[in-house]
Amino acid sequence: MITIKIPATSANVGSGFDSLGLAVTLYNEIHLEEYEGLSIRALDGANIPLDETNLVYTTIKSMYELCGKPFYGVRFGQLNNIPLSRGLGSSSACIIGGLLAANHLMKFPFNKREIIDLAASIEGHPDNTTPALLGGFVASVFDGKQVHFVRQELHVGIKFAALIPPTELETTIARGVLPKRISHKDAVYNLSRSALMSASLATGSYHNLRCAAGDRLHQDYRLPMIPGAERIMRMLDDEGVYCSYVSGAGSTIMAMVPGAQGNSFYSRFRPKMDEEGYEDWKLLMLDADNTGAICVESVPLD
Ligand code: HSE
Repeated sequence: MITIKIPATSANVGSGFDSLGLAVTLYNEIHLEEYEGLSIRALDGANIPLDETNLVYTTIKSMYELCGKPFYGVRFGQLNNIPLSRGLGSSSACIIGGLLAANHLMKFPFNKREIIDLAASIEGHPDNTTPALLGGFVASVFDGKQVHFVRQELHVGIKFAALIPPTELETTIARGVLPKRISHKDAVYNLSRSALMSASLATGSYHNLRCAAGDRLHQDYRLPMIPGAERIMRMLDDEGVYCSYVSGAGSTIMAMVPGAQGNSFYSRFRPKMDEEGYEDWKLLMLDADNTGAICVESVPLD
């Protein structure tokens, strides 16, 4: 039996559409063993596919096919703490989990570098998959074959407040509303800010984060699909967060909060959310995960 633990991720980080992402301390787990046939259990009752359309399963199977090895099946239980279709990397967690499982079961045909590339080719972009595997804050480019990336650790000076609405937002729908063309001005707006985001997180220049999270590539098109999101971002700004942005394709709004305010932030902001009609939104206070996904031998579930 192996246990794989994969962190949630928050992609785009405002201005870095399809390129910036970071890992946070919310984890999915997969408890898996070889088996003749297929058996999948949702350990927390989450509404995940329990048949051969399950993304962990399809990823494992495709890796066996890639290696030309016979595949007889697997049995696994999936613990889904990362909410589905909320822009916190639940699909990437399944892909990374499947890749690490297949690699372990096949006695390590792939190194980490190859897993990064395989994950991006399955997902289509590397901004969730790379930090899910490596942890930390990652700037990455997928050239169609290979991921070029820089990973850096995030430190205790920042807490992450994940504001998770009841609204699910499918990534395909959230990508479908994006414009096919953008102006040169908007391109400069984003590339300057994503460069500023990377440099500011690397150097602890957190005073830049509000400006650096500015975006004209995706947020304006997605925010109308997340009822209450624009208003809650204004409330966050008024509360003095470093910055807030649409996490991944949405629907979660992620705020970077000064580390010193981390604990008091929850006790101040949760009542405000309830007063302002956001009772059905969750507020999770998270830290950066600088470890990434892990895969360990473990005792059987039963
Ligand atoms: N960069 C992606 C998007 C994240 O915004 O569509 C979703 O995986």
